[in-house]
Amino acid sequence: MGDMKYADVYTESVQNPESFWGRAAQDIKWIRKWDKVLDDGNQPFYRWFAGGELNTCYNALDYHVENGRRNQAAIIYDSPVTHTIRQMTYGELLDQVSRFAGALSGIGVKKGDTVIIYMPMIPEAVVAVLACARIGAVHSVVFGGFAPNELAIRIDDAKPRVIISASCGIEGKKTIAYKPLLDEAIKLAAHKPEKCVIFQRPQVQAFLLVGRDLDWDDFVKDAKTVSCVPVAATDPLYILYTSGTTGKPKGVMRDNGGHAVALKWSMKNIYNVKPGEVFWAASDVGWVVGHSYIIYAPLLYGCTTIVYEGKPIGTPDPGAFWRVISQHGVTVLFTAPTAFRAIKKEDPKGDYLKKYNISCLRYLFLAGERLDPDTYYWAGDMLKIPVVDHWWQTETGWPIAANCMGIEPFPIKAGSPTKPVPGYNVQIQDLDGKTLPNGEEGSVVIKLPLPPGCLPTLWQDDKRYLDYVTERPGFYITGDGGRFDTDGYLFIMGRIDDVINVAGHRLSTGSMEEIVSKHKDVAECAVLGADDQLKGQVPVGFVVLKAGVDRKPEDIISELVQMVRNELGALACFKEAAIVKALPKTRSGKILRSTMRKIVDGKNYVVPSTIDDPAVLGFIEESAKTIGYGRK
Ligand code: COA
Ligand code: AMP
Repeated sequence: MGDMKYADVYTESVQNPESFWGRAAQDIKWIRKWDKVLDDGNQPFYRWFAGGELNTCYNALDYHVENGRRNQAAIIYDSPVTHTIRQMTYGELLDQVSRFAGALSGIGVKKGDTVIIYMPMIPEAVVAVLACARIGAVHSVVFGGFAPNELAIRIDDAKPRVIISASCGIEGKKTIAYKPLLDEAIKLAAHKPEKCVIFQRPQVQAFLLVGRDLDWDDFVKDAKTVSCVPVAATDPLYILYTSGTTGKPKGVMRDNGGHAVALKWSMKNIYNVKPGEVFWAASDVGWVVGHSYIIYAPLLYGCTTIVYEGKPIGTPDPGAFWRVISQHGVTVLFTAPTAFRAIKKEDPKGDYLKKYNISCLRYLFLAGERLDPDTYYWAGDMLKIPVVDHWWQTETGWPIAANCMGIEPFPIKAGSPTKPVPGYNVQIQDLDGKTLPNGEEGSVVIKLPLPPGCLPTLWQDDKRYLDYVTERPGFYITGDGGRFDTDGYLFIMGRIDDVINVAGHRLSTGSMEEIVSKHKDVAECAVLGADDQLKGQVPVGFVVLKAGVDRKPEDIISELVQMVRNELGALACFKEAAIVKALPKTRSGKILRSTMRKIVDGKNYVVPSTIDDPAVLGFIEESAKTIGYGRK
């Protein structure tokens, strides 16, 4: 059949999106059918399923309980760090969610209110998320690894009435008390939540502030279960903050209707999984992968999802993933390439893999960062199943490009996430917005409208949303560079802005620069993403000191490292910086970051014609070497 099937599906999706998505939407239970599949009356803002009403939690839980899945596991909680394995059926999860939703309603949380969730990888995080969806409250999950300052920024933007948290997270061998971080964040934030609900874990007992803080167990003890509140398809389901190029994160808004339709569609068509099967996204609920593929998509589709509180290595060994797959019968694993690089480093020959029978596993999907060919080939050799690279971002909420296993699997080309997913009209453009032919590299853009499920706007910031869609009218700018090859395979070459990817975590070098610049001895600085064998990229700083500063460089650098840990979080992995005499700049004063990046990665570079003082590049080469980077 050659290219026919995918080509047909894809062509219909971009030429006739209303009939395409109108049909897909029939898989969702609606309270009120939409008036219009696509409302394009206020371009460049587009709304899917306008006029429709539904409840996402109903579709993820109640619907399945009413249709024969009451006793099927909805969640398998597998926590090697606490030696716990616990299952929760759809019936049990529904009961817990509707009770927690009842408790939230009991303290006055209602449709449209915001709730921040700052929790580790425990089933209660899923309960909290779905309880918000049930009553139409807008959740904003903040990754547990973010420091108080970052949490405070999100509190001030989302203005939550309630924050839901836990006494601690467990990171490998470390126990991290969350409550002091939460208290500090609330202290830093101008907005104050009315209540905090704290899940007390046995490892750490959090101190509760009388009047503000509530113990999770007491909170739900006498609560009544509540049924689902109808919300508009276009009402917000959640806000998820992601790194932009400045210190202020972007609050990606997700609506209810388009999200449910797109995610359910993706389970069959991209992941080719069946209802009732076990789907495992080894990520964290704090990232978009966790929102979409730990929580919403598997549950909307009637799968069993795994909440894994552990790491790919060290909990206890590099066989951890294989153990989980064989023990729970996982059919699809989704994770970040960095997890596989970590396993490969510790167990290059796959000795741990030989201890387990993982014949249940049909596909490995990888995303979150570039999949380097070495890791791709290694994973394929080890697992002997399709290793599917797919490309997407927080803004889209589900894959933009993938080898759609449920439509028509294509031969894989290493280094390419294959082809655009139906719904996404992906194009490559040059600097002037001219669409480039296959083979030429440029900025990867998506022709508007974006399909259902993608961000309709940023949370209470339409103006900033316009940055994505007005620079090239009619197109959404992804921020990635790339090209199509002559067979129409897409290759993503990396970000063309100041966003970096550290172990699959998206971070802004701009926000690190803002922190470093606050140091009293720093005149100016540049933070760049340097290639890293394990984490893909790690940030490296170049710092110019104020005139007259005469302190030991290593003291200043260790203070800078500590500042980034304290203000952004350990997850930034900001560990290296060099003191330099000057930063290379253009004559108009712009820092030549891409040239610096090439120096740090030891690549050839051309001295830009716009450079003010070429000699500065020599200083950068020298100082990069002192911290182990640059040409060897
Ligand atoms: N809460 C608190 N701290 C956290 C945290 C969390 N949820 N997650 C990470 N951190 C901390 C770590 O403890 C570590 O601190 P340290 O510098 O004091 O040791 C730091 O942030 C960096 O963490 P991490 O990037 O996880 O590095 P690592 O060296 O501990 O582990 C890997 C390396 C490759 C095993 C790990 O990065 C990994 O599992 N990556 C997969 C990522 C992933 O799934 N991404 C989701 C996108 S799909
Ligand atoms: P996030 O919003 O955290 O999901 O990060 C999105 C960014 O990660 C994208 O814009 C890409 O730069 C990068 N990314 C995600 N998946 C891939 C992939 N499969 N290949 C290359 N880069 C990827």
